Amino acid sequence: MTTPTVRASSIEEHLEATREARLQSYREFLRIPSISALPAHGPDVRRAAAWLADALRAAGVEHVAVEETAGPHPVVYGDSLRAAGAPTVLIYGHYDVQPVDPLDLWTSPPFEPVIDGDRILARGAADDKGQVHAHVMAAQAILATRDRFPVNVRYVFEGSEESGSEGLDWWLTEHRDRLAADVAIISDTGFFEGNLPAITVSLRGLMYAQIDVVGSTSDLHSGGYGGAVQNPANALATIIAALKGPDGRIRVPGFYDEVVALTEDERASLAALPFDEVAYRDSINLAALVGEAGYSTLERRATRPTLDVNGLWSGFQGEGTKTIIPAHAHAKVSCRLVADQDPRVIFERLRAFVEEIAPPGATVTVRDLGGGRPSLMRTDSPYARAAARALEATFGRVPVFTREGGSIPVAASFQSILGQPVVLLGFTQPHENAHAPNEWMDLRNYEGAIRTIVRTLEEIAQIDPDGVEQPGAGG
Ligand code: BES
Ligand code: ZN
Repeated sequence: MTTPTVRASSIEEHLEATREARLQSYREFLRIPSISALPAHGPDVRRAAAWLADALRAAGVEHVAVEETAGPHPVVYGDSLRAAGAPTVLIYGHYDVQPVDPLDLWTSPPFEPVIDGDRILARGAADDKGQVHAHVMAAQAILATRDRFPVNVRYVFEGSEESGSEGLDWWLTEHRDRLAADVAIISDTGFFEGNLPAITVSLRGLMYAQIDVVGSTSDLHSGGYGGAVQNPANALATIIAALKGPDGRIRVPGFYDEVVALTEDERASLAALPFDEVAYRDSINLAALVGEAGYSTLERRATRPTLDVNGLWSGFQGEGTKTIIPAHAHAKVSCRLVADQDPRVIFERLRAFVEEIAPPGATVTVRDLGGGRPSLMRTDSPYARAAARALEATFGRVPVFTREGGSIPVAASFQSILGQPVVLLGFTQPHENAHAPNEWMDLRNYEGAIRTIVRTLEEIAQIDPDGVEQPGAGG
């Protein structure tokens, strides 16, 4: 392996000289309303893909293409494979964003980015356009100052992450050989409480279902029929109430069968994290935190499975009163899952239980709305250690290894379909309002992300890929 030729200016000089242009470009990316869940925004998702492909090309990345998956939105691929003998790194992020409602709670329009001190405010600023943009800017800085990357890189930027990664596994399977890499780096997580640099070592999975309860063909007068018929809204409430006990345990039979318990060591290392529970509680304006008996807040939010109603609707919602028995009632219910729970198996158990407890006099159906598998990453891989060194060098603090309660289904797919170890190297602040109104990214984290990414690639260049024990979860 030869060392890349370094041009006169250093990466830091380049980054300092291009800061304004970079923020301009970041804002441009944020202006595209690429909401993957809403079909009306399909063309915007494509516009964001095209924008990103152009940005990668402008940075000097090769073979850039917008490629179709088996789902509605494309992936953006690009690579640079000029570091013979060095490891190959697959870099992942997503360019789609969450819907913006409730719109009236935003202090400025979600797709008109505003810079306020160290914050940039817009939908996607943190999750995940800011992190995707940092990768593109890192590529640009490297290729502006050297003749090639220190490692081989492949970029895979997804457009469906926020709506369940539909069709992505098909694309990964189809292009498996072409996507070969020694490690996958996913930048879609964040720092620990207090903005402490972190590498995430586990993610939860997800099972998402809808429960529909249907009674008569139309609403009925509650005077003429109340007492003589089943009320779908009451029936739904009965079902939901039966799903969880007062101890926070989920009552679906078999729900916990595959859950791998944390070891005492794992519990001890979580307990050792500098977590300020009162600050966490106050940051969301709650008087109390609640959860499954026998577990700490950190364990509950990242290492234990959950069952939550995400949406609930039925009957009269207007002002004043209306005396009816609603014709139907609905709930969106999802479960965050942990290793080794399988979303399809959990769905079947939920469906069987709901059908069993369904009160008479109404039709109850349970539909599978998708999900993703949980994943575990190793902390002892040389790639995770390389990323940790880069974080420490950039942010001046030793990163912690954390577990996250959110889901990134592709992490499990990289492990199982591509056989790649995954490093979750993310840069957002803990309370940056992801998925909520007024999402923001800390520009110091964004700028640090670019430097950390460059440094991580340099650190990985020192690793002999043939000497690394191959994937697998755990650690
Ligand atoms: N960036 C998040 C994942 C995440 C959330 C990581 C919290 C760490 C902490 C990602 O964009 C996301 O929101 N994923 C969805 C996936 C779902 C639609 C399958 C999620 O977790 O709800
Ligand atoms: Zn998200």
